[in-house]
Amino acid sequence: MGVIDICKGSTCLIKPQIKLTFGHSDRPNCCSFERSQKSSWVSCMASTVPLNDVKEGQKQHLTGDSFIRPHLRKLSPYQSILPFEVLSTRLGRKPEDIIKLDANENPYGPPPEVFEALGAMKFPYIYPDPESRRLRAALAEDSGLEDKYILVGCGADELIDLIMRCVLEPGDKIVDCPPTFTMYEFDAAVNGALVIKVPRKSDFSLDVEMIAKVVEQEKPKCIFLTSPNNPDGSVIHDDALLKILHLPILVVLDEAYIEFSGMDSRMQWVKNHENLIILRTFSKRAALAGLRVGYGAFPLSIIEYLWRAKQPYNVSVAAEVSACAALSNPTYLETVKVALLQERERLFNLLEKVPFLNPYPSHSNFILCEVTGGKDAKKLKEDLSKMGVMIRHYNNKELSGYVRVSVGKPEQTDVLMNCLNTMS
Ligand SMILES: Cc1ncc(COP(=O)(O)O)c(C=O)c1O
Repeated sequence: MGVIDICKGSTCLIKPQIKLTFGHSDRPNCCSFERSQKSSWVSCMASTVPLNDVKEGQKQHLTGDSFIRPHLRKLSPYQSILPFEVLSTRLGRKPEDIIKLDANENPYGPPPEVFEALGAMKFPYIYPDPESRRLRAALAEDSGLEDKYILVGCGADELIDLIMRCVLEPGDKIVDCPPTFTMYEFDAAVNGALVIKVPRKSDFSLDVEMIAKVVEQEKPKCIFLTSPNNPDGSVIHDDALLKILHLPILVVLDEAYIEFSGMDSRMQWVKNHENLIILRTFSKRAALAGLRVGYGAFPLSIIEYLWRAKQPYNVSVAAEVSACAALSNPTYLETVKVALLQERERLFNLLEKVPFLNPYPSHSNFILCEVTGGKDAKKLKEDLSKMGVMIRHYNNKELSGYVRVSVGKPEQTDVLMNCLNTMS
């Protein structure tokens, strides 16, 4: 099986040098690395009974879920946000009256050219271009990287899953560096992979030493890195990235928020690093989250397999025309970005003055805050939502005392601050 044959029969036993412990009880195939030197045996991936082992007489008792792949039967669904209309009904407020600062969306919306292009769409009844040629040509111009290195997806989310489907055998391992975007862990679980967690340091920087150790000892197939990282907004500098790139591991660098960081994208780096993939999205920079357009830069030796494995019509006609139209107005994209960066600074300064919040400096369009002064982060989120202000709270243990606030328009910041001030 895969790179490391760690599974014997139906139970899989790993004997690591570094102790592996289960991360979340609801994510049975996740382990996290601790600095303990004690080695221990960890059992992971549940035992299964293949359907054809079921005796004749028992077959009539089969229920539908017995057809589902065993590892998926234990999967907890991804915790996504509520649809805007549902939220609006629940809160008893019009969508326009909700201050939505919980999903890092871009509140300015896309440039007017997008609405015009959608209205002028001539052939919505014809399947889209499976190679998204127009959009890839526009992205090549936008990024300076030739289109042969670029593949477009139904959001960066689709590309994360597609990469895993192309790279991972069930039982293979990936490295995840929490706290970070939880889709890596989720997609790994869907793909039957084992997640090795190398937690970030207290300043949210990567523990590069530990990553190197884990790569040497556990031989994971790939590592997912995020710069700027969601939820804290920290960036990965060249020295750390280069050290990781020198390891024998596929590095997927997610740059969903790169436009807000003041740093250049590393898309060009895929020409010189056979083990690097860069992911980007239109959701944040161009406010197209609802239309689902992401893209990636890949080494040529990898991209050909993604072309073979991807769904042929993964990017809709509406998504492609919208993304092309957004790129046709770089001035608008730049203006919106500058507005969000200015507002990030103002929001940070205001949050710093709230007695029960400790905000972290961010290179992205959101700010992570530790909730202090004996206040409960979940209750804070719930109280704000009753006032029509949505922020993000985390159910996982590591971040249960934190909230994340997306950067919005100045007037949205004002409403948020008024609400927070009533709680002091
Ligand atoms: C780090 C990161 N990567 C990817 C995505 C998803 O991007 P898309 O909307 O293109 O699927 C998000 C969404 O919030 C994110 O935070």
